[in-house]
Amino acid sequence: MLNVAVVGSGPAGLYTAEALVKQAAAVGTSVQVDVLDRLPTPYGLVRYGVAPDHKSIKSIAQYLRKVLESPGVRFVGGVHLGEDIAREDLLSAYDAVVYATGAMRDRRLGINGEDLPGSYAATDFVNWYCGHPDVDPGRFVVDAESVAVIGVGNVAVDVARILARDPAELHATDVPQPVLEALQASKVREVHMIGRRGPAQAKFTTKELRELGELPGVDVVVHADEADLNAFDLAGEGVKLVESDRRVRGNMVAISGWAGSAGSGAGGSSGGSGAGGSGARRLTLRFWLRPVEILGTDRVSGLTLERTRIDGSGAFGGTGEYETLDAQLVLRSVGYQSVPLPGVPFDSRACVVPNAAGRVLGPDGEPLPGEYVAGWLKRGPTGVIGTNKSDAAETVRSLLEDLVPGSGGVAVPRAGLLKYPEAEGAAGAGAAGATAGAGAGAAGAGDVESPLAAVLAGRGVRPVSYAEWLRIEAAESDLAKELGRGERVKLPGSIAIWSACRPEDS
Ligand SMILES: Cc1cc2nc3c(=O)[nH]c(=O)nc-3n(C[C@H](O)[C@H](O)[C@H](O)COP(=O)(O)OP(=O)(O)OC[C@H]3O[C@@H](n4cnc5c(N)ncnc54)[C@H](O)[C@@H]3O)c2cc1C
Ligand SMILES: NC(=O)c1ccc[n+]([C@@H]2O[C@H](COP(=O)([O-])OP(=O)(O)OC[C@H]3O[C@@H](n4cnc5c(N)ncnc54)[C@H](OP(=O)(O)O)[C@@H]3O)[C@@H](O)[C@H]2O)c1
Repeated sequence: MLNVAVVGSGPAGLYTAEALVKQAAAVGTSVQVDVLDRLPTPYGLVRYGVAPDHKSIKSIAQYLRKVLESPGVRFVGGVHLGEDIAREDLLSAYDAVVYATGAMRDRRLGINGEDLPGSYAATDFVNWYCGHPDVDPGRFVVDAESVAVIGVGNVAVDVARILARDPAELHATDVPQPVLEALQASKVREVHMIGRRGPAQAKFTTKELRELGELPGVDVVVHADEADLNAFDLAGEGVKLVESDRRVRGNMVAISGWAGSAGSGAGGSSGGSGAGGSGARRLTLRFWLRPVEILGTDRVSGLTLERTRIDGSGAFGGTGEYETLDAQLVLRSVGYQSVPLPGVPFDSRACVVPNAAGRVLGPDGEPLPGEYVAGWLKRGPTGVIGTNKSDAAETVRSLLEDLVPGSGGVAVPRAGLLKYPEAEGAAGAGAAGATAGAGAGAAGAGDVESPLAAVLAGRGVRPVSYAEWLRIEAAESDLAKELGRGERVKLPGSIAIWSACRPEDS
């Protein structure tokens, strides 16, 4: 029996737990996995990142739920590595530890005005509309008429869409009620998404991009010169990308369509033409512009952008031509980064834990016994939810090779073909925890006590059991019924969440 702690209950942590149980069975051993999270709620960015209007993606939580309820897996919520427990506590209590704490910090732009009121990291805005307990539900009053979203990745697309979409369409989603009300009162008429390079270099994916053109009442505008692959790219990089990358080709079809459509701002004006559309809101995609300053005295009033280009030698840079964009709200969506975990090696340039196939590497470049890493903390903040599945399987293969003698030679079937050791659907440790009542704590399995229980009790930390998390879920569905809104509505703020989790303490 191996005792493993997985720190982080996002997709990486839960795919790791799943792979541990399934791969261990395939090599003839059994495991008990404690999945720790600093929050009282599981699922990481599936719950606090995936946009509320993307219900089918959010339903991945139903799959991850089965992992939490499977035999040998236990949820240990409300335990913060670095605050409630230390790396050494985990290493003494478990045979192995897998760090899967993701990448929750925003990258900085490093320009003047970045910290003016009205300039926020997209991380903050996403946390707000997703009801993250770290963010006050009253944090955003959307009183800006013009918003600039910096960056052209999928997160930028999410925040631009949430701002441009008719809030009536969010009624049946899980956004907290104060957020829905703030969006209903929003004055936003213009949303600008700003890419520092060209449309071919943009990071968004075609399905997500096309969805912008399907929003009722929203005109999508692209300036014709910025959609022209040759206008600001003298080295032909964009043309090559179109030839070699299907995603880029798909993106260019959508972008060229918007640039060429009547009343869509076609015509190449750099002053933002395109008022010919009939929508209540306008979403303009801009390219080859980099932000150099966020303007304003008491609060944001605009943005200075410099025209960029790729010269004949392939070098990217500014041209010295500037324009000013009016905006009362700036959302910086330029990527996420991981934060170091106390005592755990960290590559502060790449912002990942240095590793070889998931084995954490010490300062001498050698693997540290019993320490592994998965997900965004392992490879950086890229890739979709599914990417974390094969990534976790790789980490678990390394772990079992190291800890189960002789398992290195055993062929493990492909991750998707592996089965849980007991019949599918059987009530497992997590589910047993669900019936074990509020006192279950870290011993949520109901029978075996977590190896961490004594340490936590000694520090006065009461971990959140699976049963207690289910109370939060139940309160969310009760609130949805009360408000006449969809299947569930997130509780507004940390106090409401903890009261639902532990009514006896409130
Ligand atoms: C805004 C946004 C929207 C996205 N939308 C989609 C989408 O629609 N479709 C898609 O396929 N992909 C989407 N992604 C990508 C996807 O969410 C990631 O690939 C995935 O969540 C990464 O998984 P992870 O487990 O590494 O990190 P996370 O999901 O961030 O999970 C990390 C977990 O660790 C916990 N944690 C952090 N620090 C500690 C600590 N010190 N102690 C204990 N616990 C800790 C956190 O609370 C969290 O639960 C989106 C990403 C973002 C940022
Ligand atoms: N629906 C979905 O599937 C979905 C939804 C959300 C997120 N995700 C995934 O989550 C991951 C993270 O997404 P993300 O959007 O945060 O990151 P991302 O895809 O890396 O995009 C970041 C954007 O910020 C720009 N940028 C970086 N630094 C900048 C600077 N200093 N000035 C101006 N622009 C700058 C980048 O431009 P350059 O390219 O020029 O650097 C890029 O356009 C991605 O893998 C994404 O696909 C998926």
